[in-house]
Amino acid sequence: MQTMALSEVLEREHRDIDGGIEEYSAGLTHGDTDTTPLLRAMNGLRRHIYLEEEFLFPHLKNAGLAMPIFVMMREHGELWDAMETLDTLLADNTDTGTLQSACRELLAKLDNHNSKEEPIIYPQADTVLDDAATEKLHDYLNTGRMPHGWRCEKATSVTA
Ligand SMILES: [Fe+2]
Ligand SMILES: [Fe+2]
Repeated sequence: MQTMALSEVLEREHRDIDGGIEEYSAGLTHGDTDTTPLLRAMNGLRRHIYLEEEFLFPHLKNAGLAMPIFVMMREHGELWDAMETLDTLLADNTDTGTLQSACRELLAKLDNHNSKEEPIIYPQADTVLDDAATEKLHDYLNTGRMPHGWRCEKATSVTA
């Protein structure tokens, strides 16, 4: 598995994150309010955004992709805000319909983001990063944790 391209591993994370949100939302339809799949997906998404912003995007910015990276960072801010909205709804024990529409909104934002990131950004990750940077990102994908309190650069909402 060592030879898996970064793009493959990152795209697999996208699918896992989507899958967790979909699983939670589908569960709600049947009265299952277990938040585990959603919380796991949101933790995964926060870590995913962290590693892109800290370990991947700086290399791509330096390689001339500043404009598309700017768009990706702005969208990360919107995703981060959407997750904080969901956290608030969960804490407030909001009704199922509101939770489901918040999940749909997050999934739509993810679809919009990933449908650009996968064809435009990730192929560059496979070619621009040198061996050392690629290995560092693989290591992080395998075992790394997001530092406590880290926030996406363009998140706008304020945590309590
Ligand atoms: Fe991504
Ligand atoms: Fe991203």
